[in-house]
Amino acid sequence: MVAGFPARKEYAVMKNFLHITDLTADEILSLFQLAAKTKARLKNRDDYRPFQGLSLAMIFAKPSARTRISFETGFYRLGGHALYLGPNDIGIGKREAVKDIAQVVSRFNDIIMARLFDHQYVVELAKHATVPVVNGLTDYNHPCQIMADMFTIYERRGHLDDLKVAFLGDGNNVVHSWLRLAARLPFGLAVACPKDYQPDPETVALAQKANLSEIIVTHDPTSAVVGADVVYTDVWASMGQKEEAGERRARFQGFQVTEQLMAGTGKESWFMHCLPAERGIEVTDEVMDAPYSIVFDQAENRMHIQNAIMLTLLGKG
Ligand code: CP
Ligand code: NVA
Repeated sequence: MVAGFPARKEYAVMKNFLHITDLTADEILSLFQLAAKTKARLKNRDDYRPFQGLSLAMIFAKPSARTRISFETGFYRLGGHALYLGPNDIGIGKREAVKDIAQVVSRFNDIIMARLFDHQYVVELAKHATVPVVNGLTDYNHPCQIMADMFTIYERRGHLDDLKVAFLGDGNNVVHSWLRLAARLPFGLAVACPKDYQPDPETVALAQKANLSEIIVTHDPTSAVVGADVVYTDVWASMGQKEEAGERRARFQGFQVTEQLMAGTGKESWFMHCLPAERGIEVTDEVMDAPYSIVFDQAENRMHIQNAIMLTLLGKG
């Protein structure tokens, strides 16, 4: 038991981790507790090798720094072997059908992590795989990231009471995972996006229907940040949208996170970003480098929450 985190309860082993809403609130909090415990063990350099003899297949259709490093290093540090399969190794859905890849990779490996474009591909991969599948980002969502982010907030605050998160920028995959988290844990979530760049309306409706968190979707970044404990942003053009970057820069004027915007929260707030950041575009250098910026804690915690997710999926949590 790590002080400050809720006690873990016993749960049926989850089959896959594709969306935050695949979990109950208790399961999410339980993963935070396990992540804190595993993080402490790794920091302490304990001889803890629950993944000994196991292998993780990492399928990447898109680029990555944090996701690859955190999954590979995390699995290795817990005693296992991780295999990187890049865009030129597996042409998922192009060179070979998703369901065939799912079955082949399952014959060699104990668990799969996939970063893909089409969200339906990760759903199909999980349907046909005979081993657990973890979603390492799709065009639709990024559940490991937002689990790491909320774990980081929990670690800092020691609780999630009266929390308000303001997200400024594109209504993208990262926002969809924030919305799905708001359908499971209660907190305030204000999302400010330019017109035509709002999050998926069905995901907003899903979060609002849960009737748990106060959710605001607006076009006004200044009002969105008032009272926020966390101001969060992400790139304005995600992977696969880079040719739209010029147009998006014009449409997103006023959404850059500046020191002035941070002061607009009216309280001491943290700045968060999933990274990679485009410094000088969606966030200024001053904010990225400020003492209230916790972007590298978020990055580090990717490894610890993902270890907790994989330990649970493999029945070793
Ligand atoms: N935040 C994140 O997923 O980073 P990478 O794209 O570098 O993996
Ligand atoms: N929204 C970004 C997140 C990167 C981690 C993208 O999809 O490129």
